[in-house]
Amino acid sequence: MHPIRTLGLLAALLPPQAAAIKVACNEAWIEHTPFAYAHKNKIYKDEASIVSGGVASLSGDVELGGNAETQGLKQYASHKNYRLIYIVVEATYRLVANKAAGIKTLADLKGKKVGTFQGSSAQVFVDTLIGSAGVDRNEFTTVSGSMCMRAPCAANTFPQRLKNRDIDAFGCWETAVELGIEAAGEENVVVFKNATLYREIYSLYATTENLKNPSMRKKIVQYVKALNQTLEVFKNSPETVYPFVAKEIGVDVPVLRKVWPEHKWGPGDMGEDLIDFLEREEQYLSKVDKRKAATRAELKKFVDTSVYEDAMKL
Ligand SMILES: *[C@@H]1O[C@H](CO)[C@@H](O)[C@H](O)[C@H]1NC(C)=O
Ligand SMILES: *[C@@H]1O[C@H](CO)[C@@H](O)[C@H](O)[C@H]1NC(C)=O
Repeated sequence: MHPIRTLGLLAALLPPQAAAIKVACNEAWIEHTPFAYAHKNKIYKDEASIVSGGVASLSGDVELGGNAETQGLKQYASHKNYRLIYIVVEATYRLVANKAAGIKTLADLKGKKVGTFQGSSAQVFVDTLIGSAGVDRNEFTTVSGSMCMRAPCAANTFPQRLKNRDIDAFGCWETAVELGIEAAGEENVVVFKNATLYREIYSLYATTENLKNPSMRKKIVQYVKALNQTLEVFKNSPETVYPFVAKEIGVDVPVLRKVWPEHKWGPGDMGEDLIDFLEREEQYLSKVDKRKAATRAELKKFVDTSVYEDAMKL
């Protein structure tokens, strides 16, 4: 038989639920590692795979996307069928600054060079945190740079640039900030954070089309259940998880151990506080991206708690 036809026949014989669920995310960051852990340890029992991407990949052939709320909101602006269905982790971002640049308080960042990733959750964090001291985003210089997850960090990365005093401060996700503190020397830096003001709300997203499809919804609910079980391990037995996470993303265990407390593993609260938080961020993002802000009513639709509620019934 013709090979293509054989393949077609095989596909026809396989039950539809045998298709692997695909989760799109950035495989470089700590936040994505529960997906990998759930798959490799068969906590999620069916076939699943990780593909490079994020919430934006939902427009293609992936069922789930993992991303910060920032990318979720940016995508929701033009994809009103996307839903935030589960909070995987809330990560307190930190900003590290050189004392030698005369920085003692957030207000001292006025006129300074601050490294971050433009258009990302890190930029929302930096602008919000420094903004809370009355310093507007155009009153300091945003500097681009590269990420570093493990020492030694290359010359163009934020930790090394901080050490070289080529930038005065930088703010983003871990492990870069920890590496920046270590590179510049703990005694030489001041570290700022405020989880109330800003924390990354790394979430799982799906489309309304898939959530309305009964067999697909069942898979997604099972996935959320498995992910929730995985996060209990991340929360309660971190020492058993460190070697896996370290290997998965290429970081050192001692550094990972130091940054772990900045990660509050799920399930995150999807109540009114989340809507308040998203509404504030949406106001900021819509101005920066020069677009219309989603209304509170629209944000309430964006956050779909029903998948988690279904998972509770399993
Ligand atoms: C964090 O930010 C909140 C909201 O602006 C503020 O009320 C609180 O005092 C800040 N916390 C610290 C430790 O600065
Ligand atoms: C998720 O885990 C928490 C403990 O972290 C537990 O209280 C909750 O019942 C779990 N939810 C589901 C859907 O399994």
